[in-house]
Amino acid sequence: MCGIVGYIGKKQALPILIQGLRDLEYRGYDSAGVAVLDNGKIERVREIGKVDMLAKKISNVIARSASDEAILPKKETASAYAKASADRSAALAVTLTGTIGIAHTRWATHGAVTEFNAHPHIVDGKLAIVHNGIIENYRELKKQIKDKNFESETDTEVLAKWIMEKYKALSIKYKGEDKANLLIDAVKAALVEVRGTYGLVVLHADHPDQLVAARLGSPLAIGIGEGEYYIASDVTPMLPFTKKVTFLDDGEIALINGDGLKISNLDNQIIEKNVTEIDWDQEKAQKGGFENFMLKEIFDQPTVYEDALRGRLEMDAGTAKMGGLNMSQEQMREIKRVMIIAEGTARHTGLIGKYAFERLANLPTEVDFSSEFRYRDPVVNKSTLVFVISQSGETADTLMAAREAKRKGAVVRGIVNVVGSTIARETGAGTYIHAGPELAVASTKAYTNMVAVLLLYALQFGRLKHTSLATGQRILQSLLEIPEKMNEILKRNNEIKEIAEKYQKYVNILFMGRGVNYPVALEGALKLKEISYIHCEGFAGGEMKHGPLALVSKDVPVVAILTKNQLYEKMKSSIQEVRARGARTFIIASEGDEEAKEVADEIIYVPKTMELLEPLLNTIPLQLFAYHVAVALGRDVDRPRNLAKSVTVE
Ligand code: G6P
Repeated sequence: MCGIVGYIGKKQALPILIQGLRDLEYRGYDSAGVAVLDNGKIERVREIGKVDMLAKKISNVIARSASDEAILPKKETASAYAKASADRSAALAVTLTGTIGIAHTRWATHGAVTEFNAHPHIVDGKLAIVHNGIIENYRELKKQIKDKNFESETDTEVLAKWIMEKYKALSIKYKGEDKANLLIDAVKAALVEVRGTYGLVVLHADHPDQLVAARLGSPLAIGIGEGEYYIASDVTPMLPFTKKVTFLDDGEIALINGDGLKISNLDNQIIEKNVTEIDWDQEKAQKGGFENFMLKEIFDQPTVYEDALRGRLEMDAGTAKMGGLNMSQEQMREIKRVMIIAEGTARHTGLIGKYAFERLANLPTEVDFSSEFRYRDPVVNKSTLVFVISQSGETADTLMAAREAKRKGAVVRGIVNVVGSTIARETGAGTYIHAGPELAVASTKAYTNMVAVLLLYALQFGRLKHTSLATGQRILQSLLEIPEKMNEILKRNNEIKEIAEKYQKYVNILFMGRGVNYPVALEGALKLKEISYIHCEGFAGGEMKHGPLALVSKDVPVVAILTKNQLYEKMKSSIQEVRARGARTFIIASEGDEEAKEVADEIIYVPKTMELLEPLLNTIPLQLFAYHVAVALGRDVDRPRNLAKSVTVE
């Protein structure tokens, strides 16, 4: 999400910036822009859509400006020529030649996807900024800023003007040598009063040999070349030029100029930084150093999960506030049924949502495959709330099902990851899960964030009638404790790998769970079959004796979720049944449950949480298990055969 690139040196900046934006495309974005300091003037081009579209616009602008040179009135009077020439240079003469510049890919947060909202933002034609993160107190700052001429709806433009005010104030005081520190001191003075997160780079037309970069929360790396520097959100754009990199830490600010790189904190203390020699190639860098995207995305979960909760919890009222629901409390009370429609992994999250909606909100909830829903005669009406869930927001069956539900008069809301995708646009309301770009075909972090969002929705409905304040607050508290617990599980990666290696030899593997862990068993089986090509199925524990038990033998192991909840004893009996038929068992159990070992050949412990929240944790060892089995079998984990990330055909 959002990417920053900056360059200062002897080469032309533009090609480096554009290529850098392309290298960061994998992060996801909806608009892009670039600014270059060209002969004392900041030139900027921004465009919504892909970097390719920005590049095309830049070529057009440059070509137009060159051809205008030709059509200037040659034989007219000198003053007419001068005027035409001045007009042209003011309006069109954008050549974007220059050896210092900044660029950005934006994923909309404050303000719609428009050219005006895209970065870089420029103040007074002098100061340009690119920024990732969110300035939480931008409204307060905006009130204090004298210049009320805002071009965009963004928090970033507010920050830019805020820095400019500090700059103007300091420039009256600064004389002589101080001037070299004017820009960085203005940025520091501005940031001291900022609340929120940022990774930012600033350039100023009167400081043509300087870039200032600062970080709080949003990553920034600085690549050190021969008399040149590269700045970017990650190391990918700089790797073709240099392997020497230093990473800014939170609270640090860098001044890059002719003399080199100086890093300090907001209290003006100089900080000595290590320079790291990066041995990754670009591809590995995009994967954050992991072997492939799936593993990276599994490990991303504790972080991106927090993005799903951010700004949506109301601790005092013990409830959630989902902005995209767009319904008054009265309208919410009129909802009598919930339907969840999705495919694949997204549908599994819906099954978890069903438990949450029924338990917390007392609302009858049905879950269906989009592909089935659209061809049956679903009974929905204006008192049915239909959630359509999709990572890509493009799954054809889910999109058609959403249209069908709308046509029948249901209240339809999307739960989507990809910003601006078709389902997001067509449902017009709903929620982004903020998992960031998910590139591995097998979904992992999107699953987790979908579950989180469904739990929040169920809580919001629950608190209207059924769920008490104390329970609501307990749920919120438990939701906040999840990332730490996820990290505990991720630390067991090697243990899980060792177990997985023992299971790679099987041709069939069954998964078993009950209650809220039944969908977890389905998801575990789906993950493993998708990427290992081993035949796997998930079952509800209580169903085993109604058929699947016939499949069990010493050659068919069973993976079972046996965490300490109300169905613990029942689940344990189901496991005993499969063991009695010779099955090898891999058990996911609650920390401290020694008894679980009695029914386990292999065991992985997970931290305890409230029963409804268990899928947020219990799924992670199964994701890692699937991953390691597939790696052991030499599969292409990120791109399994016959499957696509986004299924845009029926
Ligand atoms: C495909 C993918 C699955 C995904 C499903 C639904 O089958 O391989 O990982 O769960 O589509 O995709 P969606 O983008 O709608 O969540």
